[in-house]
Amino acid sequence: MNESLKTYLNLSKKIAQDAGKIMLEGYNKDISFKLKGKANLVTEYDKKTEQFVIEQLEKGYPGHSILGEEGSSKQADPNYRWIIDPIDGTTNFAHKHPYFCISIGLEIHGEMAVGVVYAPMLQEMFFASKGEGSFLNDKKLNVSTTKLEESLLGTGFNPSFPELIHPNMKHYQYFIDVSQGIRRCGAAALDLCYTAAGRIDGFWELALNPWDMAAGLLIVQEAGGTVTNLNGSQFDIEEPSILATNGHIHQEMADYFASN
Ligand code: IPD
Ligand code: CA
Ligand code: CA
Repeated sequence: MNESLKTYLNLSKKIAQDAGKIMLEGYNKDISFKLKGKANLVTEYDKKTEQFVIEQLEKGYPGHSILGEEGSSKQADPNYRWIIDPIDGTTNFAHKHPYFCISIGLEIHGEMAVGVVYAPMLQEMFFASKGEGSFLNDKKLNVSTTKLEESLLGTGFNPSFPELIHPNMKHYQYFIDVSQGIRRCGAAALDLCYTAAGRIDGFWELALNPWDMAAGLLIVQEAGGTVTNLNGSQFDIEEPSILATNGHIHQEMADYFASN
């Protein structure tokens, strides 16, 4: 592996592991949350964890750019951008549901180069670096080969839509009928890793942010999966929608989204 990628990957894993301890400290306490928007939760631990991650990155790479969900963004060298979601699945975290994680991605020259997603309660460390495959706790990952009618799918419902009926409901209804089921687990970064691991066969969401997707998208791609926007066009991390699958069911799902 390219030496510098290895260094970035090892640092990201170490930071994620240590950040996991901070998250668990919060998980085991009674913590309060604030609302950033309708049902969009944030806790003191989202901020604490992000602060820790940024401090660690700043020590090693003070010249790099940073995009963090909780506001720690910094525009410096545009060729190196760390994209951080300190707690993905905050609603789960605040309700003591164990499906939450930290997501750390490094984009180099506009392309994802390193991705680490760590779920501290589940003790699962997913990671990938460009060209080197994806791993879960050192076990190499491959997407599934399942076809749509036998698939288990994943999705999410960003709470920020003002409509009475969430625009994802009709897609949920459609795919429930053509698959073996849909899971809405509540942490997009982890949902992407589950796609990489073949635990689900495809995942979509309508409105995510770069920090939800950065690490997970590389982990899916390096496990042999396909990532595009919802209707099958080239993926752009600055655009909100994502369709990530095992590849086999991609066209069928993208065709549906393109016409609905
Ligand atoms: C949310 C989670 C959720 C997804 C939302 C995201 P957060 O991130 O990934 O699964 O459905 O769209 O905003 O707020 O827990 O970091
Ligand atoms: Ca998130
Ligand atoms: Ca978050």
